[in-house]
Amino acid sequence: MLKVDDVSVYYGHIHALKGVSLEIKEGEIVALIGSNGAGKTTLLNAISGMVKVSSGTIRFEGTDISNHKAQDVVKSGIIHCPEGRKVFGDLPVYENILAGALARKDKKKIKEEADAYMDRFERLKERRKQLAKTLSGGEQQMLAICRSLIGRPKILLLDEPSMGLSPTMVQEVFRIIQETNQEGITILLVEQNANLALKISNHAYVIESGLIVQSGISSDLLASDEIRKAYLGEA
Ligand SMILES: Nc1ncnc2c1ncn2[C@@H]1O[C@H](COP(=O)(O)OP(=O)(O)OP(=O)(O)O)[C@@H](O)[C@H]1O
Ligand SMILES: [Mg+2]
Repeated sequence: MLKVDDVSVYYGHIHALKGVSLEIKEGEIVALIGSNGAGKTTLLNAISGMVKVSSGTIRFEGTDISNHKAQDVVKSGIIHCPEGRKVFGDLPVYENILAGALARKDKKKIKEEADAYMDRFERLKERRKQLAKTLSGGEQQMLAICRSLIGRPKILLLDEPSMGLSPTMVQEVFRIIQETNQEGITILLVEQNANLALKISNHAYVIESGLIVQSGISSDLLASDEIRKAYLGEA
């Protein structure tokens, strides 16, 4: 469904991605793990058209989308839920959700769907009229995911959804990620919580200093001593 092939990205003279290749099949959850500054967000930004790719290609459903405009990438069905939540703080919860549907043409269904989402994300329902900036971190994360989902992604790019959340909230957010996938949405999940990311994903890639250093079936990576030492904090 999505094929990243030998992609390089530079920020000035910083070579942030050094020929990254990765593949996602329809219906999968693919995890991308790696330490701070490894290039995870850069890769998501390259896919969603937020940074320029200097070489290599990104193909989505057979079409080369490398360096397409971000708004065209969204229209093709790739939705990027960014790091750090980025909700519209001064808008109420409900309006934040509606904002995720701006690119959709079938305007009539949107309100119905927004209501249905509110029913599903219970915490949001109770806070429908509350300004997004007054939500807790976990609630903002749910709102950001909900806003992405109403855009009807074929692929959802999730950047560190568990960052800064309590263990209970992390469980809740991961449950929503799994449910979303079961409803047929393909997911590329960037996570520092390697343990959980490997548990819920089908395949995984490990990125270090702009290079993919390992990849495979997630359960195999989870069982690997090398991965356990480097990313799961085990001796
Ligand atoms: N706009 C930018 N200008 C210059 N350098 C940048 C820019 N964005 C990222 N970088 C650099 O590119 C490298 C990769 O950054 P990136 O944000 O992709 O890492 P990451 O894996 O997402 O890290 P984290 O886990 O901390 O979010 C880092 O060295 C970073 O400093
Ligand atoms: Mg990042």
